[in-house]
Amino acid sequence: MKKYLVIGNPIKHSLSPKLHNYWLKENNIDALYDKKELKENDIPEILEQVKRDKINGINVTVPFKKSVISFLDQLSPLAKEVESVNTIFKKDNKVFGDNTDVVGFEKGLKHINYSVKNKKIFILGAGGVVPSIILALKRLGAVKITLSNRTKEKAEDLKKIFPYLEIINWGENVDFDMIINATSLGLQKEDRIELNLSKIGKNKLFYDVIYNPSKTNFLLKGEELGNQIENGKMMFIYQAQMAFKIWHNILPKIHNKLLEND
Ligand code: ATR
Repeated sequence: MKKYLVIGNPIKHSLSPKLHNYWLKENNIDALYDKKELKENDIPEILEQVKRDKINGINVTVPFKKSVISFLDQLSPLAKEVESVNTIFKKDNKVFGDNTDVVGFEKGLKHINYSVKNKKIFILGAGGVVPSIILALKRLGAVKITLSNRTKEKAEDLKKIFPYLEIINWGENVDFDMIINATSLGLQKEDRIELNLSKIGKNKLFYDVIYNPSKTNFLLKGEELGNQIENGKMMFIYQAQMAFKIWHNILPKIHNKLLEND
């Protein structure tokens, strides 16, 4: 039986095992998908297991999407460009790193028929998934991308990869068509983002990478102000779908059942 894993820290709330095991069963594939909480030091050993065919594929989540790179034999062009890996597998006796977050985000927006072309985007946060979001936005034709992060150095680091980014201080606001919460603020019900949004006007898209809870205070605020809202559930499902395709060469179906909130 083949074995797949999602690694991260923390990992207990990951819904990847549920989704992948559902698709494995549906497609009659003899494999199991599990989750494992790791420390940074454990990464070489777990990748060694991929090399020795003890593990057939790994999804990587926070906070290891960048730090796994130095232990991999080869990267896909996309993973190299965003310096972020979320899908690992063995090919030609090498351990490969790929990135399905970029396409996951793009497909998530397509799913709601939202066009980013010529739009101004404001990103809050600079964590693991942000490089993928920036590249996706650029590929989709965003005209301006502004980013703000509590720790400004991390925002400046992103500007080294994406020179067209505009960085502003945490707590400052800017004119935007779409605002994205890519911080972990919102995972706890009481979390709030201190940002004065009272004058932003309507017809904006409030997008939260968080999908559990399905409506963070950030999204509730966007809704209250009369704007469209969307959480990160479809991005999550599409990145998983693309990872499944890489490992099993089957594009699994996205059923309504998978979209329900539990
Ligand atoms: P990682 O940074 O390890 O990749 P992440 O969950 O992807 O983890 O990112 C966490 C993001 O939420 C970061 O942008 C973080 O800001 P810092 O870079 O300053 O740490 C942001 N974040 C977490 N808690 C926050 C808080 N209380 N206020 C503002 N931003 C916060």
